[in-house]
Amino acid sequence: MSKIEELFKNNREWAQDLSAKDPKFFEDLAVQQRPEYLWIGCSDSRVPAEELVGLAPGNIFVHRNVANVIVHTDFNSLSVIQFAVDVLKIKHIIVCGHYGCGGVRATLKGDRVGLADNWLRHVDDVLQKHRSLLDRSDDETNRLNHLCELNVIEQVSNVCKTTVIRDAWDRGQSLSVHGWIYGMSDGLLRDLNASASSTEEARSSYLRAIASLPE
Ligand code: CO
Repeated sequence: MSKIEELFKNNREWAQDLSAKDPKFFEDLAVQQRPEYLWIGCSDSRVPAEELVGLAPGNIFVHRNVANVIVHTDFNSLSVIQFAVDVLKIKHIIVCGHYGCGGVRATLKGDRVGLADNWLRHVDDVLQKHRSLLDRSDDETNRLNHLCELNVIEQVSNVCKTTVIRDAWDRGQSLSVHGWIYGMSDGLLRDLNASASSTEEARSSYLRAIASLPE
């Protein structure tokens, strides 16, 4: 069996397993989705959103890109956020980075990747902004971990500053934005204490999250 055929075989087994547990699972899901969460994560194959948090299909609306970056002019991520907030009325947005991120590492080392270098300029902006904080450590792994964390905190701030989120908060919609980071070596999520549920809280949470990063 070819590797591609194997994927179809896996799919049939997966669908059978879920149907065996809940015969109406796919029927119900086909009618509508009611996710409470929007996950904004890295494209990295080792960070599968639903699996990490043990949720079945239908529970998380997902956007992933290289290095989990939210840019104010990127209509792809903005459209995902707008649909999630305005139409699906999700309650939580989780920006989840991960330690050992290849995109963040390339930025830190100044490695050339190719076209993606242009995208990673946004991570480089984070690096330049927090250079003095990063320069406190000479250890490369420490510096990479710190930049991965800082990138999440900055992207949470970017999400909070989008017109979609500001408008939602202005009209009193219940919505929280969180910044998490995933450890690939232990499989655990950590909260970076950057959560915000209002425009005012977004500013104070950002400052607190940056200040509370370990040395
Ligand atoms: Co990554």
